[in-house]
Amino acid sequence: MLYINDLTKKYGSYTAVNHLTLHIPEGDLFGFVGPNGAGKTTTIRIVCGLMRANAGSVQIGNISAAVGSRKMKRLIGYVPDFFGVYDNLKVKEYMDMYGSMYGMSSRDIAKLSDDLLELVNLSDKKEVYVDTLSRGMKQRLCVARALLHNPRLLILDEPSSGLDPRARVEMKELLKNLHAMGKTIVISSHILSELSEMCTSIGIMNRGQLVTAGRIEDIMKKISGGRRIHLRVLSDMEPALRLLREQAQVRVESVRENEVIILFDGEETRLAGLLGMLLQNQVLVTDFHREEGSLESLFMQLTGGVAE
Ligand SMILES: Nc1ncnc2c1ncn2[C@@H]1O[C@H](COP(=O)(O)OP(=O)(O)O)[C@@H](O)[C@H]1O
Ligand SMILES: [Mg+2]
Repeated sequence: MLYINDLTKKYGSYTAVNHLTLHIPEGDLFGFVGPNGAGKTTTIRIVCGLMRANAGSVQIGNISAAVGSRKMKRLIGYVPDFFGVYDNLKVKEYMDMYGSMYGMSSRDIAKLSDDLLELVNLSDKKEVYVDTLSRGMKQRLCVARALLHNPRLLILDEPSSGLDPRARVEMKELLKNLHAMGKTIVISSHILSELSEMCTSIGIMNRGQLVTAGRIEDIMKKISGGRRIHLRVLSDMEPALRLLREQAQVRVESVRENEVIILFDGEETRLAGLLGMLLQNQVLVTDFHREEGSLESLFMQLTGGVAE
């Protein structure tokens, strides 16, 4: 759906985005993650047509149009990393203003604006001044505004930064809902844990370059820690270990009292099969989980330890 090809952007002699190539499939909830200064905002601003690249191209779907052209901009809803100041503007007027900027009729705006404000849970704020909204509400209003022209792709730059925990959860729920409704969504963040549980795939960027990208499960598989499974067994340990050692995809890493740590080299379905096999053979498994934080440690490793 979104194709970024060999994109390079320099600020003077400093290369902020360095030959970035990235494909985001239709229907994805894509997390664009990297420490501050990685080049996320620069990339997003180029995709949204707010800044020119020095080299490379951007394509959305099979539509060929210049980056920044009107045709391209219509396909994208953009939620920037800052919210402007709107003196004396009410929520409803704010939506009207953006709707007319997109060239919509006032009837369409009225109808859509109501639906969208309901979607972002701001229906009761229509007559409230934008400047008096909480930061979380402003962010949600920004999402509603970005959806007015029914874009195929929604891009949010650090939508959770500066939000309190409750507002973060609300934002996450909103994005999950939009994804379930079929929108393709790209969210940037410098905090991996914020994205890893909500996104279907992620791309990790560092110093202007893409370090890795793909579906979360696939990335997890590449990490040794991600293949490390912890088991707790209530029944006798010996038969359990014998069964485990018989499996080609299993390497027993360590055993301590009734806990085993194994390295598992296989797909998720095979892992479920392994658990089923143990249970069928009367092994009483009381805990069976993938080692946590391995994606986080990958991020730390790849980006030089700037994860929060
Ligand atoms: N307008 C600018 N002029 C000069 N350098 C910039 C400008 N904008 C960003 N940079 C630099 O480019 C790099 C990438 O910035 P940015 O795209 O904002 O990263 P991120 O959004 O991942 O934090 C940073 O080192 C930043 O200091
Ligand atoms: Mg940024």
